[in-house]
Amino acid sequence: MTDRYGVIGHPIAHSKSPVIHRQFAEQARQDLTYDAIDIAPEHLTTELNALIESGVKGLNVTVPHKNAIVDLVDDLSKRAKLAGAVNTISINSKGALRGDNTDGVGLTRDLTENLGIKLARRQLLILGAGGATCGIVPALLGERPEGLTIANRTSEKAEDLAERFAELGPVYACRFDALADLEFDLIINATSAGLSGKVPPFPAAIITPDVACYDLSYSMSDTPFCHWARKHGAADVHQGWGMLVEQAAESFLIWRGVRPDTAPIRAHLP
Ligand code: ATR
Repeated sequence: MTDRYGVIGHPIAHSKSPVIHRQFAEQARQDLTYDAIDIAPEHLTTELNALIESGVKGLNVTVPHKNAIVDLVDDLSKRAKLAGAVNTISINSKGALRGDNTDGVGLTRDLTENLGIKLARRQLLILGAGGATCGIVPALLGERPEGLTIANRTSEKAEDLAERFAELGPVYACRFDALADLEFDLIINATSAGLSGKVPPFPAAIITPDVACYDLSYSMSDTPFCHWARKHGAADVHQGWGMLVEQAAESFLIWRGVRPDTAPIRAHLP
């Protein structure tokens, strides 16, 4: 019988996950379907239960459900627990749900293996202290950077996260306006400001010719952050397309026991 998978979110029509997972299935010769399923927040519990009843084997979870799902699964992986968010659910034959989070490993794979950006013993900066930042901090600290600084408009949120992840490695909090005096090897934009076409008031002094810049957001043209970074002299600038494909490959591995080759899909991305 064909196994069924999907991604749940709201809105979901824009999701690239069905295209990516269908290509993975074709490549790995796996008999499965993968669909985008729109679930409004107020219907999350009932519609999730209906999907389980219908025999679905696994689900990806995207905005706005990543945090709420944590309380609806029976078991959580260590990395999902650390992130406080789930992007991958596996459902066993008894209908029990295990939540995992592949966002962090998706990002570190894209950075280190696809883009050749070194993380070990480097100074890293994350701009933003919301859900996206929580998902990536544990995996970035796992790569043993020299330091990981989190800067946020609301500085208390950056301080809270630095405290929460302190036992995993050298993680610090900083205000945007104090960044100008510091030097970084990699800057990751994890704010959602780009969704409204904005670049927050980051000090341009953080951009040096050697710094790598990575936006977790992605778009068919330059994102506002990528445009801003290039304008201020950054040469090594990337959008989050590779992370999207790599986190999907990690989900596929969890579900099917095979890690697809992401190169053919990444080759067709902007
Ligand atoms: P996500 O799940 O995408 O991380 P989130 O949890 O709502 O979404 O977090 C959004 C992040 O983008 C926060 O760090 C937010 O800063 P605040 O904590 O100060 O709200 C940041 N952000 C969004 N719009 C921004 C803007 N215009 N300027 C600066 N930071 C912004």
